[in-house]
Amino acid sequence: MPLICPMCGSGTLAIEAALMASRRAPGLLRSNYGFMHLKYYDQQKWRQLRAEALRMSKTRGGKAGFKPARIIATDIDAGAVEASRKNAMTAGVAHLIDFDVCDFARTVVPPEPGIIIMNPEYGLRLGEIEKLNDTYKRIGDFFKQKCAGYTGYIFTGNSSLSKKVGLRTSRRIEFYNANIECRLLKYELYPGTRNKTIYR
Ligand SMILES: C[S@@+](CC[C@H](N)C(=O)[O-])C[C@H]1O[C@@H](n2cnc3c(N)ncnc32)[C@H](O)[C@@H]1O
Repeated sequence: MPLICPMCGSGTLAIEAALMASRRAPGLLRSNYGFMHLKYYDQQKWRQLRAEALRMSKTRGGKAGFKPARIIATDIDAGAVEASRKNAMTAGVAHLIDFDVCDFARTVVPPEPGIIIMNPEYGLRLGEIEKLNDTYKRIGDFFKQKCAGYTGYIFTGNSSLSKKVGLRTSRRIEFYNANIECRLLKYELYPGTRNKTIYR
């Protein structure tokens, strides 16, 4: 199904989606991971897993003409979209992603079902809280009005801003971005009245 990533920034989520869709493990080119320095790191097992991932990437993603469902990445900042495009080219997946420069609410939403994932600023480093209150409220409106039938996700490190979305979450998954406690919030965007506005 389509995956839409408005607010794509440097494109991490869309690029990893394209890699996964073409059976290429994200991070396959990376040679050093934190877990390799743990006491119980099993180098032989890791080599096996990596070899298997490489084999998979050649069977599906490497096939000429392979085209997964649409992956759409947009951002209001033209520089961010340019960076995304370059990063996608480096990862070998630029041909699998449709890029555009626009406000998130103007992003094209293909027919349902699909997945929409947004990683708005959360006011710790970038952006001003006042402006972000309005942005989060607009994300809720966009989900409700334009994304019915989709599964929506918001990744944020600011729980008071996330309340401004005004939709019921179906799951809240805890993550840490360095030392910032974050949540991946999941929304089932049913059409019609099932999306009751609940502030929590
Ligand atoms: C936290 S960053 C996203 C980082 C991204 N996940 C990555 O991999 O780089 C938030 C992004 O939202 C974009 N943004 C902010 N307001 C926006 C708006 N109204 N419409 C579209 N994009 C917006 C910013 O330009 C920024 O690139």
